[in-house]
Amino acid sequence: GAPVEVDITTLQPGEMRTVEWRGKPVWILKRTPEMIASLKQTDGKVADAKSQRNPDEFTPPYCMNEARSIKPEILVAVGICTHLGCSPSSKFTPGPQPSLPDDWEGGFLCPCHGSTFDMAGRVFKNKPAPDNLQVPRHMYLSDTKLLIG
Ligand code: FES
Repeated sequence: GAPVEVDITTLQPGEMRTVEWRGKPVWILKRTPEMIASLKQTDGKVADAKSQRNPDEFTPPYCMNEARSIKPEILVAVGICTHLGCSPSSKFTPGPQPSLPDDWEGGFLCPCHGSTFDMAGRVFKNKPAPDNLQVPRHMYLSDTKLLIG
């Protein structure tokens, strides 16, 4: 599939946009400073904090960092659960929420078998999903223009 160009000029902190790339939903989330800070707290609770599993498939080398991104505030991730392919929902409020797992820290929740992911799409420990959400190949054409793929 062809690369997709996305203008993120109007994306507000805490806002997420979904674009389609190769038939897959790709999330572009502009993280708030609180969301970025939450990654420090989830570091010890996620299964693969440094995204070292299957790097060829799930994390490009330039995103093998805590935030899994080129710019700390912008997350680009494929919105498909690495377990059996359901669509996780986004829950951006950190802290405990009713009827969510005890270790929930905000981020993303897959409704199918309860895998949870942090604000960088890193899967929490002891969840059915084997890998972090995929970060697709991407680059910045300018400050506000992204090329995905
Ligand atoms: Fe997401 Fe199973 S498909 S937890």
